[in-house]
Amino acid sequence: MTVKEKIAAVFPSMKDIPAEFRLSKPVIQREYLINGELCRWHGAMQEVLSPVWIRNAAGLSQKIVGKYPLLTEKESLQALNAAVSAYDHGRGLWPTMPVKERIRHIADFILQMKKKKKEILLLLMWEIGKSYQGAVREFNRTVHYVRNIIAAVKDSERISSEWIKEKGIIGRILHAPLGVALCMGPFNYPLFETFTTLIPALIMGNTAIIKFPKLGVLLHSPLLSAFQTSFPPGVVNTVYGESGDILPPLLSTGKIDCLAFIGSGTGADMMKSWHPKPHRLRSVLGLEAKNPAIILPDADIDLAVRECIKGSLAFNGQRCTALKILFVHYRISDIFLRKYVDLLGKVRFGMPWEKDVLITPLPEPHKPEYLTGLLKDALQHGARIINESGGTVNKTFFYPALLYPVHAGMRLYNEEQFGPLVPIVPFDDIETPVQYIIESSYGQQVSIFGNNPELIAGLTDIFLNQVCRININAKCQRGPDSFPFAGRKDSGEGTLSVSDALRLFSITTVVTMKEEEKNREILLKKLKKTT
Ligand code: G3H
Repeated sequence: MTVKEKIAAVFPSMKDIPAEFRLSKPVIQREYLINGELCRWHGAMQEVLSPVWIRNAAGLSQKIVGKYPLLTEKESLQALNAAVSAYDHGRGLWPTMPVKERIRHIADFILQMKKKKKEILLLLMWEIGKSYQGAVREFNRTVHYVRNIIAAVKDSERISSEWIKEKGIIGRILHAPLGVALCMGPFNYPLFETFTTLIPALIMGNTAIIKFPKLGVLLHSPLLSAFQTSFPPGVVNTVYGESGDILPPLLSTGKIDCLAFIGSGTGADMMKSWHPKPHRLRSVLGLEAKNPAIILPDADIDLAVRECIKGSLAFNGQRCTALKILFVHYRISDIFLRKYVDLLGKVRFGMPWEKDVLITPLPEPHKPEYLTGLLKDALQHGARIINESGGTVNKTFFYPALLYPVHAGMRLYNEEQFGPLVPIVPFDDIETPVQYIIESSYGQQVSIFGNNPELIAGLTDIFLNQVCRININAKCQRGPDSFPFAGRKDSGEGTLSVSDALRLFSITTVVTMKEEEKNREILLKKLKKTT
């Protein structure tokens, strides 16, 4: 079969789907969690369509995954009131609870979450088209992250339980919660990225409202009862619906203290602008990126190609850390292209349950049209599609296209494609990629492939002041999650790592007193309990 024929036959009929991966019936979620109560919704619902189409006698039809509530301003404000009351100006049960007890609640939640693993994995596959292996990795990574957050908070507690003495003053440094956190993850890592802000926010004593991404909502529905039973009322609340309906009322009250959002810069700017006291709002943002790879003439080409394939195409290039533009030195561009095309030909594509599949259907509506627009623009400006059938579309499926030569006059040069388009820019002078990075609106990461220590060290020095992670002879990525993850310029605000996250969702407070006998007594007798 040719690649084109395989693409034409990419969608299965029901009988082709292994029994354990079938979605037996649509998930109709009518519940939403407010103030510890699973409320039942009787209003408008959002239908969730899978990126997977099913072949039947009449042709292809898009699989319906289920429905979720389209709440309104009223329920959104109820969620806010619940979170505000549970926080109670920092005097509520949750913010005043000793950390070790908060940890117990979170550990209980994770225990319950693990029991729902099968359902969550299935929905990750059907709702956003994540491969089974990718879904397993995301689930395990989330559990691992939470375990590490718990360990980090215990460590930090140990350090801050010590009183320090300086210049006749004794003091103890504490990390106090901020208030109400609004946590919003993205569709590409709906579980992991939501939890990398939610769990640190909770563990530090904040109360939370979760607004799930537009795509990747139903996979959280098996967790609603776990949220309900693991946390005191009002500590975790969930809202669903059109962002334009439910977010402005939340933010314009000024009662959201922390905005944790992974998504677009435009969305983040809008939300911040709705807050009447923006300087009171702590923002934790993971935004757009256009991470480049630079392949130097002395690079190990096989290694560079392997890393660039994973970097640009894992989960269809739908990672904020994906390599979104490759700068390849002229001297090696022919061989690099040839090897990339060869390896791309071996990359498995198909349905999320197929083994080792890298390329799957895309969940975002109209994404194939958008990518086709970028591709046509590049062709019009002189690029060629280098690989067989690159850019072929079948409904929600878009076969990766390697485009060469790409230059500054094309949209793909600066626009974040967030999909399986791989632009290759040939360069002669190292200043070409250097200037690209300096002038870019984004500043998340860069990959450098090469073997000349002086050159790589020189580039690293330049990029240290441009981006937040430099990957040498490796693709860009967030993990390991104990490493800092951040973005400069328009790519984000705040650093997320296991330990940094604890700082982001808290404020440093200090209790001090003069070193005098009277105060010592207060310290020993009275402050023991509270601090
Ligand atoms: O989309 C952003 C993710 O946090 C990236 O994580 O680099 O491990 O795929 P990853």
